[in-house]
Amino acid sequence: MRGDSEKVLFDERAIHRRYDMAAQISNDYRDRELTVIAVLHGSLMFVADLLRRIPLPLKLDCLSVASYHGKVQFSGEVVFKQVALPDVGGRDILVVDDILDSGFTLAAVRKALETARPHSIRICVLLSKKKQRNREVAADYIGFEIEDEFVVGYGLDFRARYRNLPYIGVLRRELLEQPGK
Ligand code: IMP
Ligand code: MG
Repeated sequence: MRGDSEKVLFDERAIHRRYDMAAQISNDYRDRELTVIAVLHGSLMFVADLLRRIPLPLKLDCLSVASYHGKVQFSGEVVFKQVALPDVGGRDILVVDDILDSGFTLAAVRKALETARPHSIRICVLLSKKKQRNREVAADYIGFEIEDEFVVGYGLDFRARYRNLPYIGVLRRELLEQPGK
């Protein structure tokens, strides 16, 4: 599995150093009760490590969305997999996702949550690709900005695999191009 990466972008130490972000979030929300909405599955590792460094009373909810359907390119369709969205009315929401790419997913998540009239919504992503987005969406907290290449590991998948790599790396191009599911 490790041999499938062309290069490592951020190893475990680099990722863990970036958890200084938790101090900023804790400071920004010090007088409020935060509700964290984790966008699954990609944010799983990130949200677990991040929240353990935020010493504030908070609530955690999860949203499950699928957008890639096994392809490297965005399919254009964002499917919410649960029946009901978390009740976020009047709350201060922090949406946590693994990566901001085309912007379709976080724009759709934000729009869906806004219908429940939260008090505020901010977005936190581990990674943000430097590129033109299809949807206008800005993240308030960003772990790392990366070039526009397909990455895996530390929660991020390719065809549902590689999430358990402890680092973030770029997959070898020929693996991305292989047929499979
Ligand atoms: P967006 O809707 O294009 O912004 O992409 C959102 C979702 O696509 C993310 O939450 C990821 O699950 C997935 N995604 C986007 N870029 C990558 C990548 O480079 N590697 C793995 N998953 C990605
Ligand atoms: Mg994904």
